[in-house]
Amino acid sequence: MRTVIGNWKMQLTIAEAEQLAKDVAAALPKRLTDVRVVVCPSYAALAPVRDALGGSPVVLGAQDLCHEEKGAYTGEVSGRELADIGVKFVLIGHSERRSHVHEDEALIHAKVQRAFKNKMTPVLCVGETRDELDKGLRDVVVERQVRAAFEKLELPARCEMIVAYEPVWVIGSGTDVDPEDAARSHYIIRETLRDIFTPETADRRCRVIYGGSVDKGNIAGFLSRPVIDGVLVGGASLSAPEFTAIVEAARTADAKG
Ligand code: 13P
Repeated sequence: MRTVIGNWKMQLTIAEAEQLAKDVAAALPKRLTDVRVVVCPSYAALAPVRDALGGSPVVLGAQDLCHEEKGAYTGEVSGRELADIGVKFVLIGHSERRSHVHEDEALIHAKVQRAFKNKMTPVLCVGETRDELDKGLRDVVVERQVRAAFEKLELPARCEMIVAYEPVWVIGSGTDVDPEDAARSHYIIRETLRDIFTPETADRRCRVIYGGSVDKGNIAGFLSRPVIDGVLVGGASLSAPEFTAIVEAARTADAKG
């Protein structure tokens, strides 16, 4: 089953986020058995969006969490608060956090561990910058980011991990990446995960999805690659018709196998 995640970033007011949640819920079937759909509003909109989603199959995700369980961390939001709200998925290490607030690999590792402690699925974001791509470092960077986040983790008995491959230079650019190029990075990520966790564990528990200027026009190309297990959508997730068209494409792609 493919996974479609919408990252609403800091683009909406709470009223706009509630309306978008209602529109997405209204446009999708009441039950979804062939695709998983997650939306990630900002912290302040999480509870209102949860309520606006009502009984819809759309699942709540957060855009970040604090690496610590509780304590004197002004301005942070803990995993247990997110779990209280009903958050099931959490983005970790998005490139915008790596660059804007200088999240480093040790912090990202701690956040992944914290997500597990609070029974949430971490969605680890990795990807190379344009400069790293030009220097031929794409594979090295992506492998390093996956290893730093996932090596030496204490894995709970039942858990799932998602890695989102998001080339930094593609995010928000409208640039179309060749799905074959994306698939190559996915292959490297999957092999790295198999090396870290054993092939059986990685294949059972890890999903690798693609993000970066995904829209309803280019999604079919990505999902035609079996190594791409879904998508992480930014800009196009802010329009209910566009986002639900992406979800529909993911369902059809799944039906084709
Ligand atoms: P865009 O889809 O707007 O390129 O954003 C991708 C992204 O950063 C999702 O996390």
